[in-house]
Amino acid sequence: MIAAGPKRAPAVTLVIFGVTGDLTRRLLVPALLNLRREGLIGGGFNILGIGKQDLDDEALRSVLAQFVDAGDPGWKKLRQRIAYLKGDFGDDATYRALGERLGSGNAAFYLATPPAYFGEIACRLKAHRLLDEDHGHFRRLLIEKPFGHDLQSARALNQTLLKLVGEPQIYRIDHYLGKETVRNIMVARFANPMIEAVWNSHYVDHVQITAAETVGVGRRGKFYDATGALRDMVPNHLFQLLAMVGMEPPNSFAASAVRAEKTKVVDAIRTFSPGDVRKNVVRGRYRAGRVGNEQRIAYSDEPDVDPAGRTETYVAMKLWLDTWRWSGVPFYLRTGKAMARRDTEIVLQFRPVPCALFHHDGMTSLPPNRLVIQIQPDEGINFDFLVKLPGPAIETAPVSMDFRYGDHFELGKLTGYETLLYDMMTGDQTLFQRADAIESAWAAVQPILDAWSSGRGRPQNYKAGSDGPEAADELLARDGRAWHSLYA
Ligand code: BG6
Repeated sequence: MIAAGPKRAPAVTLVIFGVTGDLTRRLLVPALLNLRREGLIGGGFNILGIGKQDLDDEALRSVLAQFVDAGDPGWKKLRQRIAYLKGDFGDDATYRALGERLGSGNAAFYLATPPAYFGEIACRLKAHRLLDEDHGHFRRLLIEKPFGHDLQSARALNQTLLKLVGEPQIYRIDHYLGKETVRNIMVARFANPMIEAVWNSHYVDHVQITAAETVGVGRRGKFYDATGALRDMVPNHLFQLLAMVGMEPPNSFAASAVRAEKTKVVDAIRTFSPGDVRKNVVRGRYRAGRVGNEQRIAYSDEPDVDPAGRTETYVAMKLWLDTWRWSGVPFYLRTGKAMARRDTEIVLQFRPVPCALFHHDGMTSLPPNRLVIQIQPDEGINFDFLVKLPGPAIETAPVSMDFRYGDHFELGKLTGYETLLYDMMTGDQTLFQRADAIESAWAAVQPILDAWSSGRGRPQNYKAGSDGPEAADELLARDGRAWHSLYA
């Protein structure tokens, strides 16, 4: 992670496979430009894009300029450092040419390609000795999500990669870990004894983790219909949040310490039986409706989607962490597309007070204390608590203490990839997924995938622009609880 007063990253060539895709221009290039502005990368940084399209260096630079300000002085310098190599990922000639271009310097290979290419590209890089680090330079592999589509495929991919290089050369990306607020969970907990002291089953009634999106599947129908909300969001992004909430304090912020603690959390997720899946996991799929002012078509009418299929666009679940700290505390997770609001948040709801003091007013329960960590949008932390209403009677009123990042700090236009790219260049793996952690996450959701593929059930419809299917509300209502409002 970028610490106070970070140093400039070492010289490196970032080789991007699939350079003409969306990811490079929308996220990677703006992030690299931000790093350049901060002086964290300099003249020794180069981009070498590889793709099948008939382009030259200048044409690639124009493609990549789409999301940056063309007049930006940093961009003028960075663009000179961008080169293009036309080639097929399955053709040895591409790797021979790449080897000649790279020489013996540091290089990082970014696989921004469909996942089917990950294994093949890595094997060919290895065969052409492009992953060898024997000249004192580093060679690193960066792999975008999805890392496998189930436990078996994730294991197979890990095995393939780990036969070629050691774990320290592999950087598996989950872009949620680049988000400022996600990393702030560790600071909020471990730098603030008042928060950490109540962060356990003695005080916490339950935890909710929400990643609600307003977008539908748009042009990603083909990918999404084969993936669904569970695979797309849960073993990766939602479990990252779960791990940050559930982890024990690491003994340092070194990658090995942080990753070990996070992995223990995912390992502690209680295995779902088929009965648990029926009872504690809800899937939904959006039908037509209005999201804000926009009329949306049903998921089944989206392009490249099988209308008769059973792919879910929403999933909610209740799960348990079998750890000393969280014994008896349910964790409720939910994520969905085409929902009422964009809202990624973590809510810790605290246990009710015994309440005897307030019985004389006819009150049987009080609104709970809640700590809400708002990941996006409007990053911040709120604490909901009770105060006395002014006046002669002792009556309570719920109030909120709100901290908004934007009120105190200049957030700039960060993409989240700045930290990830910088950390990779400086060799810090804290924010990257370790092989066993990826497998633990898939192992936790595999029983759900199995139950859904063998059963006859279907996702419950929910209206686009709503809070999700009714069954998700019932999941909490059964326990006498309710989801934190997306509007709060
Ligand atoms: C991606 C998923 O990994 O994360 C998308 O494939 C999803 O379906 C996206 O929309 C959400 O990311 P963010 O940063 O917008 O919350």
